[in-house]
Amino acid sequence: MLSGKIAIVTGGAGDLGKAMARHLAQNGAHVVIWDILPQADAAEAICAVQEQDPQVEYAEVDVRDRAVVDHAIARLPQLDIVCSNAGIVDAQPFLDLSGENWQNHLDINLTGCFNVCQAAARRMVADGAPGRIIMTSSWVAEIPWPEITAYTVSKAGVNMLVKQMARELAPHGILVNAVAPGIVKAGLAGRQLREEPQYAARVAKAIPLGEPGSPEEIAAAVVYLASPQTAYMTGSILTLDGGCSLFQFDS
Ligand SMILES: NC(=O)c1ccc[n+]([C@@H]2O[C@H](COP(=O)([O-])OP(=O)(O)OC[C@H]3O[C@@H](n4cnc5c(N)ncnc54)[C@H](O)[C@@H]3O)[C@@H](O)[C@H]2O)c1
Repeated sequence: MLSGKIAIVTGGAGDLGKAMARHLAQNGAHVVIWDILPQADAAEAICAVQEQDPQVEYAEVDVRDRAVVDHAIARLPQLDIVCSNAGIVDAQPFLDLSGENWQNHLDINLTGCFNVCQAAARRMVADGAPGRIIMTSSWVAEIPWPEITAYTVSKAGVNMLVKQMARELAPHGILVNAVAPGIVKAGLAGRQLREEPQYAARVAKAIPLGEPGSPEEIAAAVVYLASPQTAYMTGSILTLDGGCSLFQFDS
């Protein structure tokens, strides 16, 4: 379905990113993994994709560094799909929230998406190539969750970046959408589930479908957003949250 396409996945050494990279490769795309980690620390992700795409590439790219992002995009022979997925979460109660914590979230989760997605869009327009841009938002972009103000605000910004870009890039045939995962039993939430008992207690009451989601479910949605099936879809936030964002009743 995606053969002949080149796809970048940022944060591709992480749990959601590596599932996205694997699923894109399974569907025929040639994958370029970007992450801030040195290549040796991304070996697991690279090996997982190599089974499907023996030529998978890896580049150490900090999405905050615009010059590095521009350079990494310029050296690609073409660009069809971008998954702007790199992100962090570092919980701090609002009254204790430091300026550094706030800025880190905005720099990586929001400005990182701006850097990658604007650079990608410029390349697609210059090439006259219609493309797909898919950001990783979160269900908490619209629902406040305790002690992650900087994270929720950064993801709210991602949702508007998706809509703004979709509006302006439609005449170029570039489609811009997002996946909004709920609580996934891996990656950022996986770590919080293991390390923060209070978080795990909250999660136990928060998911109407009863269980955290999986990276595979999110990756399948990303492939859908990259596929011909969604050729009429732009500016959408595709939520996969087990019903978390529905109003909760006690019983
Ligand atoms: N896990 C969840 O439950 C969940 C839920 C909703 C949204 N998300 C979103 O999914 C995305 C992926 O997160 P994950 O859960 O796989 O976490 P993860 O920590 O496993 O992966 C995140 C990856 O981003 C990379 N990264 C961090 N800063 C970077 C930078 N400056 N430049 C490039 N790469 C950088 C990390 O090295 C890591 O490999 C994030 O945007 C996150 O907000 C996750």
